[in-house]
Amino acid sequence: MEVVIKENYQEMSKLAASMIAEVVRKKPRAVLGLATGSTPLGTYQELIRMHKEQGLDFSQVVTFNLDEYIGLPPEHDQSYHYFMQENLFKHINIPPGNIHLPPGMDEDLVAACERYEQMIRDAGGIDIQLLGIGANGHIAFNEPGSSLGSRTRVKALDKKTIEDNTRFFEHIDDVPKFAITMGIGTIMDSRRVVMLANKANKAHAIAITVEGPVTALVPATIVQLHPHATIIVDQDAASELKRAYEHTPRDLTEAIAYIRRQKQSS
Ligand code: PGA
Repeated sequence: MEVVIKENYQEMSKLAASMIAEVVRKKPRAVLGLATGSTPLGTYQELIRMHKEQGLDFSQVVTFNLDEYIGLPPEHDQSYHYFMQENLFKHINIPPGNIHLPPGMDEDLVAACERYEQMIRDAGGIDIQLLGIGANGHIAFNEPGSSLGSRTRVKALDKKTIEDNTRFFEHIDDVPKFAITMGIGTIMDSRRVVMLANKANKAHAIAITVEGPVTALVPATIVQLHPHATIIVDQDAASELKRAYEHTPRDLTEAIAYIRRQKQSS
């Protein structure tokens, strides 16, 4: 697991966007796993900038979002469908048919969850999954205590998450109490995971995720078992980490140059 501490939110966002852009440039039909919330907004803004200024092409890209509230129609301004449309999709050239979010209005929820898993498989699996982290250590809506092997399913939201989300609704009673979420097992199947966290209210969750034992009580700790995970944090979210970490992602350029020199001299 690679931990990268950036100076601020903007630098964190730029690095995350550049990692996603690299995947898209190498594989135009890349399958992206996307997240909602305040954390990835800067990443999306940077991807939009790259699309507009550098021609980053999303015309073949396929996306799957982590989660959606149950009972909010896609046009509701607090639905994750709406969030993604407003904050990313309408600004880039992704075909609407390539966009997937869990269907929070489907009455056959069990079948809808199975279909979502199947669609991810049919697309060839997720190449890179962007993740936020809750102050309680959740990833997507996999709240503390979620099975570490879980698949896409319906979850009741944790009291803390409902409280955290109240700021987006007029009244706490308006906050949805259920969501469809990719499971922890679904997330772990992604070829690469990039977890982002900024602000001091995430510092404790990040410290446990990076330096604590793996436990279902802090679902984010599962990324320790992922073969290709990068956690990018700003200074505030890094403030409770005990060990020293790099400020730039591991770069193999030097190692490769060394191999080449060795080959030339032999
Ligand atoms: P946030 O949410 O980006 O709005 O802080 C992250 C999460 O709960 O996963």
